[in-house]
Amino acid sequence: MANYKDLIASQQGKKGGIIEAFHAIQSEYNYIPKEALEEAAKVFGMSEAKAYGVATFYSYLSTEKRGKYIIRMCESAPCHVAGADAVIKAIENYLGIATGQTTADGKFTLELTECIGQCQATPVITVNSEPIFNVTPDMIPSILSAYK
Ligand code: FES
Repeated sequence: MANYKDLIASQQGKKGGIIEAFHAIQSEYNYIPKEALEEAAKVFGMSEAKAYGVATFYSYLSTEKRGKYIIRMCESAPCHVAGADAVIKAIENYLGIATGQTTADGKFTLELTECIGQCQATPVITVNSEPIFNVTPDMIPSILSAYK
């Protein structure tokens, strides 16, 4: 696993480097830890508030701690009609968290997403961007136990 300090140092002095660094950090850690924000502020010569502003400006960057596996439930209309609500409930029950939360062991985060262009096989979930099709609530334990 690349260290956030190295990821930040490799972008030092580059235009837009802080955004590149945040991208790289997020792909390693799944979010941008507070220490990385502080380090980036130092290296790029800005206030921590400004660095935080950069990190929160882009919706695909997250400063909240997230799990190793990010589960996303598609909530656009075709998936919704096909039973997305029941699938979300099953995931929440199985993991013991609400949508938007991360399990205590840091393994799973559950989020919602817009249509991912796989409406031929609704409802669709993704696990770390890998789509899983025609998901029903009773499939959830076997799908997720594969990641435990
Ligand atoms: S609506 Fe869910 S994949 Fe398109």
